[in-house]
Amino acid sequence: MKIGFIQTSPTFGQVEHNVSRALDVIDSIETDLVVLPELFSTGYLFPNRRSLSELAEPVPDGPTCQKMSQAARSTGTAIVFGIAEKSGDKLFNSAVYVNPSGECSTYRKLHLFGSEKSYFNRGDLPLKVYDLGEYKLGIMICFDWIFPEVCRILALKGAHIVCHPSNLVTQYCQEAMRTRSIENRIFTVTANRIGSDSTGDKTVDFTGCSQIVGVDGKVLARAGESNESSCVLDVDMALAESKYFTEENDIFVDRRPEFYRGIISA
Ligand code: ACM
Repeated sequence: MKIGFIQTSPTFGQVEHNVSRALDVIDSIETDLVVLPELFSTGYLFPNRRSLSELAEPVPDGPTCQKMSQAARSTGTAIVFGIAEKSGDKLFNSAVYVNPSGECSTYRKLHLFGSEKSYFNRGDLPLKVYDLGEYKLGIMICFDWIFPEVCRILALKGAHIVCHPSNLVTQYCQEAMRTRSIENRIFTVTANRIGSDSTGDKTVDFTGCSQIVGVDGKVLARAGESNESSCVLDVDMALAESKYFTEENDIFVDRRPEFYRGIISA
């Protein structure tokens, strides 16, 4: 199965421009699945909730989602992308999975980062996995990486691959995602952005280095820190079926959840 990412450099607030550039890349690559960054259509650093509300769109009926759905149908590619979602009076930092038939499913970021807390609502949907042909795909967004429970639950629900739209501002995550892959024996695709966003006297720089990691934690592909790029790799998704770390250790069977209760108490 071919999987890939697109590392973009969105211009803040220029939704049509950002979407059309990404669509051009999707048209130019051949892949079964492609992952785009968090908030790829709007940019990241909103000055306030009003500005976010002006740029956020309904899912799946908004124009960006409709365009991505059309692209998925016409290219036969499954696409995961980050979007600012408007739902009633709520605003979510969301990711949408569009399957090759153009059907959309939504994940809403559970763990908001920094100033996101002042304008986004916290995600309110359960963690789920979705069909990707004969395999299963899970989604998390950027800062969710620091909560290992997210990948673990997706893997326990059967995810072979976790798609990870991101707008990373540090370099810790790329290395940490190797551990997320090893400890769950899953593929992970982190699609990050480059460039910077500014508002008032605040500037945020993004760290690029989008990557695809194999079930053994090997970095199979990694983009540069500061260039737009895309990458497609052919991987054997069936490798994520086996949870054997050694011949004697199935890492899911060997778990001792009766000793982990503290993790789920508030
Ligand atoms: C992040 O969650 N965008 C750092």
